[in-house]
Amino acid sequence: MQITGKTVFIPGATSGIGLALALRLYERGNTVIVGGRRQELLDRITAAHPGIVGVRIDTAEPDSITAAAAHILAAHPDLDVLITMAGIMKVEDWHSADFLASAEQQVVTNVLGPIRLIAEFVEHLQSRPDAAIITVSSGLAFAPLRVTPTYNATKAAIHMLSETLRLQLADTSVRVLELEPPAVRTALLPGQEDSDFAMPLDDFADEVVQILETQPDVTEIQVQNVKFLRYGEARGDYPQVVAALNRLDPHGN
Ligand SMILES: NC(=O)c1ccc[n+]([C@@H]2O[C@H](COP(=O)([O-])OP(=O)(O)OC[C@H]3O[C@@H](n4cnc5c(N)ncnc54)[C@H](OP(=O)(O)O)[C@@H]3O)[C@@H](O)[C@H]2O)c1
Repeated sequence: MQITGKTVFIPGATSGIGLALALRLYERGNTVIVGGRRQELLDRITAAHPGIVGVRIDTAEPDSITAAAAHILAAHPDLDVLITMAGIMKVEDWHSADFLASAEQQVVTNVLGPIRLIAEFVEHLQSRPDAAIITVSSGLAFAPLRVTPTYNATKAAIHMLSETLRLQLADTSVRVLELEPPAVRTALLPGQEDSDFAMPLDDFADEVVQILETQPDVTEIQVQNVKFLRYGEARGDYPQVVAALNRLDPHGN
């Protein structure tokens, strides 16, 4: 994928991976629109980087997605790339029904959010000559972390959605890419920003941009660190991957 001269919308870029990629895409000459719920972070980002545009959006709310999409398409009719970054991750114990509210919240944000975003932008993107939808799954789509059942399932859903959407949109100008991060030091889970188990954010974002720059036909964006989780089944060491992943669980569960 060409990553200069594009107009890119990243809902879920007020922090973490989304922000790190937004800054790198901006530095490479793209028009970047960052989205999220936290207005104070949007204000801080746009003040520090006057070329970056901030749009408040809650991707768990259909009306908010529709309003943000209308605003963005009116202001940026040259939008070529949507990165469905917004996501949440919750630790759950399914021995009792207490997990239900957390599970529903994650399905709404991590699955319905991207689906609703794609619905808002897919027709527009097909009018652009070289467009892309970049979804965000996880290494946990391919091997389960015991303490996050719903999260793992939402990311597996995003993986299969991405695979299928790529087939459907093969007859259009819209490419479908899937970003599959390993554990990265962000605020996704409490304590993760300092976790030795997770990859430094800047190293991850640099490697992602390098992949995009050097592998123009990539469909699954995989840094080296995610391949342990991603290819356990293919290698035939899936049970060992699952065992190692859960022994290393930073929450000690
Ligand atoms: N870090 C990892 O280890 C890892 C691994 C695999 C996959 N991922 C995925 O990477 C993506 C980014 O996560 P991160 O690690 O960078 O965590 P993060 O720092 O917590 O970032 C999450 C981003 O999503 C936004 N967001 C969450 N709910 C939202 C909502 N309802 N509406 C709009 N924006 C929302 C947040 O913005 P506001 O709070 O301002 O709304 C924030 O910008 C997620 O999809 C996550 O599942 C992360």
